[in-house]
Amino acid sequence: MTANVNLVLGGTGKTGRRVVSRLRERNLPVRPLSRSTEIPFDWTDRATWGPAIEGGGALYLVPPFALDPIHEFVQRAVEAGVRRVVALSGRGSDLYHFQVMLRGERAARESGVDWTVLRPNHFFQNFSEDPLLLPALLAGEVVLPTGDHPDPMVDVEDIADVAVAALTEDGHSGQTYTLTGPRGISFAEGTALVARESGREIRYKEVSGPEYVAHLVAQGVPVDDARDLRTVYEAVREGTIVEQSGDVERVLGRPARDFESFVRRERTAWV
Ligand SMILES: NC(=O)c1ccc[n+]([C@@H]2O[C@H](COP(=O)([O-])OP(=O)(O)OC[C@H]3O[C@@H](n4cnc5c(N)ncnc54)[C@H](OP(=O)(O)O)[C@@H]3O)[C@@H](O)[C@H]2O)c1
Repeated sequence: MTANVNLVLGGTGKTGRRVVSRLRERNLPVRPLSRSTEIPFDWTDRATWGPAIEGGGALYLVPPFALDPIHEFVQRAVEAGVRRVVALSGRGSDLYHFQVMLRGERAARESGVDWTVLRPNHFFQNFSEDPLLLPALLAGEVVLPTGDHPDPMVDVEDIADVAVAALTEDGHSGQTYTLTGPRGISFAEGTALVARESGREIRYKEVSGPEYVAHLVAQGVPVDDARDLRTVYEAVREGTIVEQSGDVERVLGRPARDFESFVRRERTAWV
């Protein structure tokens, strides 16, 4: 069997399912992979790995949680024929030592085959799909420790476009792309834009890091997850990851999508 199937981990998630639909639109062979896909894949169940990677030529790698055996998995995928790995990481992975992201990056770089690392800023789609932020918007109050630093958040549609380019075209091997939107948007402004578009009253409440952790724990979020989220959002407040990179434009040859268009397009998420 020729190894040419595009394996898409997190194939039902925010980035993965968009990567899958783009590859399908181009009639390219694609296998979405997650615990709920037709061919199931579970990081915690090695028995699922073999059928998942069989015939794979390129791999979109989404590391979903802390304890995954990511290096071992990538090695097995390469032994099974994978020749290209595109790893989703995140902006600030190196500065803030986000371990899951760094492990995914390392597994790609040490794979011995073509690799590309994607480091996006926060996703626009956190406002429309995130399991914490979306319910907060719908309830009328967003509580975060992000300060008023603008974050050049990025549209997941652009991340998927870049991922597909890296999976299917030459010229991206050995690249680490920082993926940003066209301008910085604070979470308070993002909240205000969603409120305006949806006609809802939504308040943005700035809190300290410890207050944020307490807020999440009170909602039932495990304390370790709450601390991880605090680190991610406080990175915005520190203002260290606010520069636009231009990598979306360089890879795709067109401007990055803007937040206002996203809010209009995804309006039904909030109404
Ligand atoms: N959100 C942001 O602003 C942001 C910014 C930068 C980087 N990132 C990075 O983006 C990544 C998340 O990517 P995403 O947003 O595309 O995904 P996502 O929407 O969070 O979805 C997670 C995916 O992983 C699958 N999954 C969960 N547990 C699994 C398991 N045990 N085995 C196999 N698959 C599993 C889920 O499907 P099933 O439930 O069906 O298994 C789903 O397809 C994270 O690594 C995060 O660090 C996020």
